[in-house]
Amino acid sequence: MIIVPPPLAVTGATGKLGGRVASLLSAAGLKQRLLVRTPRMAPVLEGTTVLQAAYENTTATRMALAGAGTVFMVPGTEGMERLERHCDFVDAAKASGVRHLVYVSFVGAAQDAVFALARDQYATEEYIRASGIHFTFLRNNLYADYIPEMVGQDGTIRGPAGASKVALVARADVARTAALILQEPTRHEGSTYELTGPEALSMARIAEELSSAGPRMVSYVPQTMEQAYASREAFGASKWQVEAWVSTYTSMASGAMANVSGDIEKITGVPPMSFAKLLRS
Ligand SMILES: NC(=O)c1ccc[n+]([C@@H]2O[C@H](COP(=O)([O-])OP(=O)(O)OC[C@H]3O[C@@H](n4cnc5c(N)ncnc54)[C@H](OP(=O)(O)O)[C@@H]3O)[C@@H](O)[C@H]2O)c1
Repeated sequence: MIIVPPPLAVTGATGKLGGRVASLLSAAGLKQRLLVRTPRMAPVLEGTTVLQAAYENTTATRMALAGAGTVFMVPGTEGMERLERHCDFVDAAKASGVRHLVYVSFVGAAQDAVFALARDQYATEEYIRASGIHFTFLRNNLYADYIPEMVGQDGTIRGPAGASKVALVARADVARTAALILQEPTRHEGSTYELTGPEALSMARIAEELSSAGPRMVSYVPQTMEQAYASREAFGASKWQVEAWVSTYTSMASGAMANVSGDIEKITGVPPMSFAKLLRS
């Protein structure tokens, strides 16, 4: 018997965002194919067919995409080759007749974005547009869940963010929004959404929220550009990686991450959670 995989496909299901989306779709009774690099790592979920596919334009990836109508595309691992891998995947999707890509991008995605990774994200968006595949772009703000990872061992967040604000978004809110869009993709064709939290917070306020949630006091220490580069270069990271790290903060300082959009509530009918609520969830 030939088993035909479902037309809805989710990438990144072994990761945090794609895994949540796959789980929500499964709970909603939808059938989906999970495109993963390592099938044994795929989550075990009702209604899923697991297929092996990396973000490369290989026969395996095209076979995994064959017959897929809508594909949820999570950005690949950050690195210098990420954009090339994204373009490969779009080429494979095009060759396989994929109708619609729902792509996870970043707020302020632009050719001249201050945040280095938002430039890659913009280039991917443009590549998808040029491919002729229908698209929906989900431009996420910084994950609120990621903030604790920005705290150093000494309990400080150090960076050149100035006093500007950032409209952090919880990964869970991005996942439930994406899952709803994937259930009615044609309604969202051609749309670019900005997925933000309900408020914009300065880094000083973020540190206060972290301290208040515990278990330790956290403070924000603004850095000059020289201090920011020197402190990160000390880890021996690549030039590319250091620019990505530092530009997360300079992007905040530029105000590019401060807009509170309201798109999550418009799409789902439920407002996104605050940073304080996320820290206590
Ligand atoms: N908005 C933000 O603040 C923020 C913060 C951190 C990261 N991000 C971005 O958001 C993305 C999703 O977040 P997350 O938390 O779900 O990340 P995550 O847990 O690291 O998951 C990333 C997923 O993408 C898959 N993947 C990576 N490169 C791939 C490739 N070349 N081909 C096929 N699959 C590939 C991984 O598969 P494997 O299991 O095989 O590695 C994994 O399933 C990340 O990739 C990152 O680019 C955004």
